[in-house]
Amino acid sequence: MIPRTPEPELMNEPQQVQAYAAADFESSDQALVECIDQLLLDSGRRFVPGDCLVDLGCGPGNISERLARHWPTCAVVGVDAASQMIETAESSRRRAGMARERLRYVLAPLPWHGLQSQATLIVSNSLLHHLHDPQKLWSCLRPLAGDQCLVLHRDLRRPSTAMAVDQLCERYVADAPEVLQRDYRASLQAAFTVEEVKAQLRDAQLDHLQVRELEDRYLEISGWIAGCQSGLDQPSA
Ligand SMILES: C[S@@+](CC[C@H](N)C(=O)[O-])C[C@H]1O[C@@H](n2cnc3c(N)ncnc32)[C@H](O)[C@@H]1O
Repeated sequence: MIPRTPEPELMNEPQQVQAYAAADFESSDQALVECIDQLLLDSGRRFVPGDCLVDLGCGPGNISERLARHWPTCAVVGVDAASQMIETAESSRRRAGMARERLRYVLAPLPWHGLQSQATLIVSNSLLHHLHDPQKLWSCLRPLAGDQCLVLHRDLRRPSTAMAVDQLCERYVADAPEVLQRDYRASLQAAFTVEEVKAQLRDAQLDHLQVRELEDRYLEISGWIAGCQSGLDQPSA
């Protein structure tokens, strides 16, 4: 197994932000929303008007905006510590004519506890591998969560060999702009393995969450948690 090589946490270089915001993540972003739908269906629960959906490490807001469209009566909050990303997300929200009550962005680093005990969904995509200390993410969850909160975190997983890194780069970003090729390689090398994530969740006492490998390059963490204020002793499975 190749060792983990962390990359810079924040994506704040203008060229990097532009290239990332212009990239087409349509199918993987849609798959994330469909996965949330499926998890709700499996649990027999649904979001109700006024529910609060949180997108951590929201970047240019592609997923936050999609959540706001899919659940128009919920309030979506995107959080990111890169000012360039939040500015890009805000511009996109304005262009889409979406009111701040439905979608707002917060410039803040993780761990973020800005919405105590209110979240019904906490999602992140491609965030975990950026964190030098992954507990910055896991320690956010219970303080943000309401009584019953769905969590879904998707990220790359680290390939076991340098050759596998080369193969994934060749397969998925060979034709992408140079800055995206560079970032993709760095992200694969900075990503965690399923076993590492399971150990992080044990440390955070969140090991009832499910961790699974997805396709040839992703991992996914999902499940339900009870927030700090819920009064429930056990997290709901
Ligand atoms: C690869 S982007 C993913 C953006 C978006 N979630 C998506 O899937 O398109 C990762 C984002 O996480 C943000 N990020 C990384 N570390 C962070 C931290 N410690 N606090 C807040 N945001 C962070 C970066 O600035 C960047 O915008």
